[in-house]
Amino acid sequence: KKVVLAYSGGLDTSIILKWLQTTYGCEVITFTADLGQGEELEPARQKALLLGIKPENIFIEDLREEFVRDYVFPMFRANAQYEGLYLLGTSIARPLIAKKQIEIAEKLGADAVAHGATGKGNDQVRFELGYYALKPDVTVIAPWREWDLTSRTALLEFAEKHQIPIAKDKRGEAPFSVDANLLHASSEGKVLEDPALEVPDYVYSRTIDPEKAPDTPTIITIGFEKGDAVSIDGEALSPASLLTKLNALGRANGIGRLDLVENRFVGMKSRGMYETPGGTILYFGHRAIESITLDRGAAHLKDELMPKYAELIYNGFWFSPEREMLQALIDKSQEFVTGTVRLKLYKGGVHIIGRESPYSLYDQDLVTFEEGAVAYDHRDAAGFIKLNALRLRTLGQRKKKLGL
Ligand code: ARG
Ligand code: SIN
Repeated sequence: KKVVLAYSGGLDTSIILKWLQTTYGCEVITFTADLGQGEELEPARQKALLLGIKPENIFIEDLREEFVRDYVFPMFRANAQYEGLYLLGTSIARPLIAKKQIEIAEKLGADAVAHGATGKGNDQVRFELGYYALKPDVTVIAPWREWDLTSRTALLEFAEKHQIPIAKDKRGEAPFSVDANLLHASSEGKVLEDPALEVPDYVYSRTIDPEKAPDTPTIITIGFEKGDAVSIDGEALSPASLLTKLNALGRANGIGRLDLVENRFVGMKSRGMYETPGGTILYFGHRAIESITLDRGAAHLKDELMPKYAELIYNGFWFSPEREMLQALIDKSQEFVTGTVRLKLYKGGVHIIGRESPYSLYDQDLVTFEEGAVAYDHRDAAGFIKLNALRLRTLGQRKKKLGL
């Protein structure tokens, strides 16, 4: 029996690796992805070797471009936010990891896959819905739901017994849990569990404190093509390098911090802190280029559908027909979402200061307070208002008659 494990190289997934070998007696294949989490991957290879994984069973892949191009950017075309605020940095990474695990499983003839998400969260759902969608007959192993290593002490004992190296700072309990990639860093649990208490400074890793950000604003221009960002200050950049650059600009200006209580798919509320520096800049920039290139009907329709689309991604339904249907609609809307946006980054804020497009629908001649446009006759407005008021007048008359 062979199992493909999503392996970070950290203590928890190393324990899972050993547990799979000892409990299931299966041949473990490790998959480690670079999603821009900001960690070296070579140590993960060394650790896997040390734990007895055959070199040909160790898979390490740089997925940064694919992640941003095929997952982050399509999602940003929708301006997706879960519960009005969360830019879905963790949610959007899971389907890609699941897809790669299944690809490796198919290639090596493995019938099982495993992940390190707990039995209480969203991530188990996202991984497993992805696995089942792409390989309906797959066997899923979720060690956190199965083993009896239910305390930190039990975990550390298991690690010691199997000679799994434990970093010094991992002996005590980690003060909070982190998930990071090129789009965001998310922190949850432990010191963050009481939503009445402010997030301590040491939890932030991707942004400087906005109160300590520079007193002079940073002005940038983002170029968009069909809804995707393609350049910064005129320099063409690949999706991952563009997001990397926006992250640096966001970090320096304290942009994209979010302290949120959200509703998990499995039913409970959880409190988390997110840092999405580049993504936050991108979100506002994209809305600004849409503001001049999208027709009102198109813009409002996609805004109505956005919460549904965001919820599908949050709940793990990336590989579902309904997500793909909405994606087709969103992608179609982006045909003319091309042009440039100028932004001012200042002490945690993203301010739009200009937008331009060869496909702009903005008509200064039409909107001006000065004498202009022949296409618009003021006198037409009187009838337009009167007909729209008809219902309201009828209702008003009834109210009056009833003395209400
Ligand atoms: N609550 C976020 C989500 O469901 C993040 C979950 C992972 N974060 C973590 N720190 N373990 O998308
Ligand atoms: C986990 O439980 O593994 C992380 C949090 C989540 O998935 O919501």
